[in-house]
Amino acid sequence: MTVSQSTVHVLNHLDRDYLRQALERDVRTGLTASPKWLPPKWFYDAAGSELFSRITRLPEYYPTRRELAILRARATDLAAASRADTLVELGSGTSEKTELLLEALASAGTLRAYTPVDVDAVTLEAAARRLAGRFPGLDVRAVCADFERHLGLLPRTGRRMVAFLGGTIGNLEPAARRVFMKEVRATLRRGDTFLLGADLVKDTGRLVAAYDDSAGVTAAFNRNVLKVVNRELRADFEPEAFEHVALYDERHEWIEMRLRATRDMRVRIEGLGMTVSFAEGEETRTEISAKFRVEGLRRELAAAGFRIRRAYTDPDGDFALILAEA
Ligand code: AVJ
Repeated sequence: MTVSQSTVHVLNHLDRDYLRQALERDVRTGLTASPKWLPPKWFYDAAGSELFSRITRLPEYYPTRRELAILRARATDLAAASRADTLVELGSGTSEKTELLLEALASAGTLRAYTPVDVDAVTLEAAARRLAGRFPGLDVRAVCADFERHLGLLPRTGRRMVAFLGGTIGNLEPAARRVFMKEVRATLRRGDTFLLGADLVKDTGRLVAAYDDSAGVTAAFNRNVLKVVNRELRADFEPEAFEHVALYDERHEWIEMRLRATRDMRVRIEGLGMTVSFAEGEETRTEISAKFRVEGLRRELAAAGFRIRRAYTDPDGDFALILAEA
């Protein structure tokens, strides 16, 4: 191997046993609760990751394009402000937007290593190989992990930038968000940075349309969680018997996605040895996607021990990208 070739390592902290146990616990807890819920993490098997990719290209789903526009305009500045040699990306998915950051860090001459972190091993490995091919000499250390539980396992060397893009922070409820931001801060050393992408509060009609597209891709993505439970826990959900619901909760300033049972149903979950009843019209919450205000984000980051270095939005004020320093 020559020095200009990239190296790719994939570290899997999520073996099948771990995943199975976490899914079992979440499904048992969520489907015996009232109201019922399932965590959004389980949308993302290979099929769900592909559906999410399609969502990012929908006309109604603006966040990805807006964040990309901010990155295009600001990546050089963010790279210079961070002087990071190691980019750690939480919930990296297909790493499409990451290329802009890697390019900027490479041009700044600081870039050495990239660690994408994702729960889906298939998507993770494909992204790791693609970026290693694209950036000769880059040390790619992909980590298959759950960013809410495995922050302690991420690289601890180099001058790091931890990027959490796409607005995925919105999946966390406020209390979990506080804990998460403090944990990210605790893994960083002074001078390391945290780059946070967050979707902003806006007109309710546009928000709801972004989560209830006319082509039905988001509906398919939502129902995919039932297919995952069917496959992994030998359940007999009929995904088509559940209706996709997306609503904006004005008080909490978050989107909620739900699956509404279109008739009374009893669902057998063999892997858990349980049967779950759904009443006609009953709704199971599958995701919250919080919407933010820049001032609120600044406050939350400061409370977690960060100093705000940059706060950018796109020209329409739809999405924010904040660089915070430990
Ligand atoms: C990946 C969590 C940022 O909340 O907008 C997209 C997921 N759900 N459409 C979001 C999602 C429905 C997305 N995040």
